[in-house]
Amino acid sequence: MSINSEKDLESLRRIGNIVARCLAYMHSKLEPGITTFELDQLGGELLTLHGAVSAPKLTYNFPGYTCISVNEEAAHGIPGPKILKAGDLVNIDVSAELDGYFADTGGSAIIPPRSALHMQICDVAKKALENAMLAARAGAKINQIGRAIESEAKRNGLTVIRNLGSHGVGRALHEEPQFIPGYYDKKDRRLLKENQVITIEPFISSGAHEVYDTGDGWTLTTNPGIFTAQYEHTMVITKGKPLIMTLVS
Ligand code: CO
Ligand code: CO
Repeated sequence: MSINSEKDLESLRRIGNIVARCLAYMHSKLEPGITTFELDQLGGELLTLHGAVSAPKLTYNFPGYTCISVNEEAAHGIPGPKILKAGDLVNIDVSAELDGYFADTGGSAIIPPRSALHMQICDVAKKALENAMLAARAGAKINQIGRAIESEAKRNGLTVIRNLGSHGVGRALHEEPQFIPGYYDKKDRRLLKENQVITIEPFISSGAHEVYDTGDGWTLTTNPGIFTAQYEHTMVITKGKPLIMTLVS
């Protein structure tokens, strides 16, 4: 969507704030012994309390309120009986709708003790998101986002998952532009527009270039021993820095 009024901005901020709080709350509940089902229930309760509806449930009939992906799982993990343990890398992705507005956020976290590799991919994914946001301004090519993400990965000897990307958001969970690559595509001529609402969500991996389906219809994974971290914000494109909607206030 494109922000056309003060109401658009306020409404997007409201749902952005709710998903950000939900993500922070779920991260605070990460501890050995909790199941991903229990964690998802806590997130779902918080969304419901604020009148928000899980976007993946609403849009795709996803079997959970949030996506919880553990260790080799990179995205779209289904909450279930899996018991989290010390040392696990856990990605939580929260997207929800309120009054017809959608916001999408996500973030990886490690249950201590934290391995050096897990910390590195998390740090690089955070930095990649920061750098990509600095490149994302009105009039710039969309491919500057992927360029910033890919160069941060390469600089650190890491890889980008090429078949997961950022996207337009706001009046639906996924809208135009449908796929914003996390790598530099020099043939991509699309431009960022002022007031356009997009996510940026780099997927930084310790070696994989692609994720594949595990057969449950949702969970996307890499090979054993390979790990991926992701951080995501919903933002409004401006002539300067993007306005982040998914902040805890
Ligand atoms: Co997301
Ligand atoms: Co997203």
